[in-house]
Amino acid sequence: MAAKLTSTSNSVLLQNPNRNHLSVPNVTSGAASFPHFTAKIKPFSIRCAATSTAPTTSFQAQIQDSDDRVFNFAAGPATLPAHVIKKAQDELYEWRGSGMSVMEMSHRGKEFLSIIQKAESDLRTLLNIPEDYAVLFLQGGATTQFAAIPLNLCKPDDPVDYLVTGSWGDKAFKEAQKYCKPKVIWSGKSEKYTKIPSFDGLEQSPDAKYFHICANETIHGVEFKDYLTPRNGILIADMSSNFCSKPVDVTKFGLIYAGAQKNVGPCGVTIVIVRKGLIGNAQAITPVMLDYKTHVDNNSLYNTPPSFCIYMCGLVFEDLLAQGGLKEVEKKNKKKAELLYNAIDESNGFYRCPVDRSVRSLMNVPFTLERSDVEAEFIKEAAKEKMVQLKGHRSVGGMRASIYNAMPLAGVEKLVAFMKDFQARHT
Ligand SMILES: Cc1ncc(COP(=O)(O)O)c(C=O)c1O
Repeated sequence: MAAKLTSTSNSVLLQNPNRNHLSVPNVTSGAASFPHFTAKIKPFSIRCAATSTAPTTSFQAQIQDSDDRVFNFAAGPATLPAHVIKKAQDELYEWRGSGMSVMEMSHRGKEFLSIIQKAESDLRTLLNIPEDYAVLFLQGGATTQFAAIPLNLCKPDDPVDYLVTGSWGDKAFKEAQKYCKPKVIWSGKSEKYTKIPSFDGLEQSPDAKYFHICANETIHGVEFKDYLTPRNGILIADMSSNFCSKPVDVTKFGLIYAGAQKNVGPCGVTIVIVRKGLIGNAQAITPVMLDYKTHVDNNSLYNTPPSFCIYMCGLVFEDLLAQGGLKEVEKKNKKKAELLYNAIDESNGFYRCPVDRSVRSLMNVPFTLERSDVEAEFIKEAAKEKMVQLKGHRSVGGMRASIYNAMPLAGVEKLVAFMKDFQARHT
């Protein structure tokens, strides 16, 4: 196939006359040398500014998942929408007439400002975030928030309540012990984290400064289906693994936080949505980077932000809007989860999900095999069929299929067909 390489003083352009699969072995010219470079280029309709309100359907419709991609059931970092990755690929070298890639831009330049502002604005639209909430793009993962939350919201002797429905809630509680006086008011540990209690019976601490939950326990597959109103009104949720998977009434929360790497982007950026009235009272020992006021006052640009990650999240937010918003996204997620849970429940015990049915996660589906002796074979055979990362977390064993927003229905259908076939061969 004829591929033409044009080199200008500061750019090397790969032109693909057929706009088709293009393989360029050993291209060496001008400023570039890519001995193993293989590009697959398909036509895109590119908008020229981040402020464009254009939905992503224009390019989405033209891109097929390529044969070399697997169905990745990893819990995070997790699969991203193929067309979003393609769009990023298309813009990687030179972003929308700026003459450089997003990775090379000044975070204070007008191009990047348009990217971060558009990402925030689209997220506000998706989740209907009111003006009295700040949206922050931070670093350090959700794990850093385990410390930042008590540091910002409590004095060292303040009581706070933690409802622990899995390992992540437990980690958050343990970290908070360093900065305030947290109490576990309920723990699902003795039942192997398979339940969420009824809110009525919970004995909340009278003076608790906040009430912390993990909205979706990634390892155990336990998800809140509704939320309580704590006595003090300040509900805090780790939404790392179900962020933007369904509509959420943000006004019920004092603070929501989420690592991006499951539903909305690559690892490296953590999103915090916080009621503005809660900001500005951090403990004196709070590092400047953990003080929400630092980031609110500087629009998440106090120091160099994870700019490429924020850009990627922006592309995902655009895509979620183009899909019709989170109500539509939730419908798709419910359909995928129903398909998988039905396959488990209808397997006559060959597969088993230990989680209480009423709180089963739409995102992370843990299951075990009646015959634990063939679990390794299950994982190996699935991988051969291009379905990877199905091994359960080391702390619980068995399998776990993470079926975040970007997992296509076809991926779940393929997994279910494989599970039925595997069962037929091993019963
Ligand atoms: C629910 C939940 N909270 C917190 C974390 C920790 O996130 P990070 O690795 O971004 O610190 C994870 C990671 O998988 C998670 O699933």
